[in-house]
Amino acid sequence: MLGIETSCDETAAACVRGGTQVMSSVVSSQVDLHARYGGVVPEIASRAHSELIIPVTARALLEAGIDGADVDAVAATTGPGLIGALLVGVSAAKALALAWDVPFVSVNHLEAHLYAGFLEEPELRFPLVVLLVSGGHTMLVLVEGHGRYRLLGQTLVDAAGEAFDKVARFLGLGYPGGPAIDAAAMVGDPEAIRFPRSMLDDGLDFSFSGLKTSVVNHVRSHPQVSTEDVAASFQQAVVDVLVAKARRAAREVGAVALALGGGVAANSLLREQFLGACAEDGLHAFLPSRQMCTDNAAMIAAAGWYRLEREGPTPLDCGADPNQRLSIVP
Ligand code: KG4
Ligand code: ZN
Repeated sequence: MLGIETSCDETAAACVRGGTQVMSSVVSSQVDLHARYGGVVPEIASRAHSELIIPVTARALLEAGIDGADVDAVAATTGPGLIGALLVGVSAAKALALAWDVPFVSVNHLEAHLYAGFLEEPELRFPLVVLLVSGGHTMLVLVEGHGRYRLLGQTLVDAAGEAFDKVARFLGLGYPGGPAIDAAAMVGDPEAIRFPRSMLDDGLDFSFSGLKTSVVNHVRSHPQVSTEDVAASFQQAVVDVLVAKARRAAREVGAVALALGGGVAANSLLREQFLGACAEDGLHAFLPSRQMCTDNAAMIAAAGWYRLEREGPTPLDCGADPNQRLSIVP
């Protein structure tokens, strides 16, 4: 399965065998192009994807040691994401599928993040709860089996990744914010400031906007405060809430395993506390490597493989949908 991902600012292609065996995974990040604007500029992203999609795909085939004739199917992210960016990957994937006369498979980007945890550890265990924490989404999803998802909780306003990015920008740590806060927090004191743990005892939904406001208010009223201490205390508050709710969700639904996915799953403190919580609660932990947490095409190929098995090829007249939702069991 050749997977293609262009939903945001990463141009990625990967070859995956049997849904789990990664033969190659090439990611070309556009971070440098967008950094001077402090965020992703959609038109710049689309243009860069157009320039990179062919060389990145060729490299993925080369690194896998195969050529087009060996590809059995092509999967691409059809949403959610930036429309111009999505269309580049979807058009390329359809063109290749048509030229090679193999099936095309539409993949939901969020579903692909759920699958990242299985790539490096194919021994699937259901029912499983996934804490999906990306730039645009914070969700707790119950996976009952392939393609069977139930939404247990989500963010009502800001996603966790968005909170990291906004707090980093406010602290002058630059873009992308998550890795910058992660690095600053390494040398800060997580107990220096007691920021609120929003909605900690309140259901399985999340809200990080109050926390963000507290950080801003604290820094404005304590201008001499150490940036590293603020970063570490903020990160601790986010991770405490994420881990507490993931554990509660797993307990409530009787899950046997807990998985982490999405860009924020690359966070050092979250990874450490996630593993600790799974060990304490006797849950099998699926923790993708950092490269598989952030956007990549191996997770697209994996999700595409199972989708093709379940539902067959996607018709070539399917479009890209910037607001595509994860398909949830009613
Ligand atoms: O999943 P992803 O790569 O793209 C989306 O689908 O949104 O997630 C990107 C998000 C950004 O908000 C970024 O700041 C965050 O993941 N992120 C991190 C870390 N690495 C990336 N957040 C916290 N700590 C990190 N080490
Ligand atoms: Zn993503």
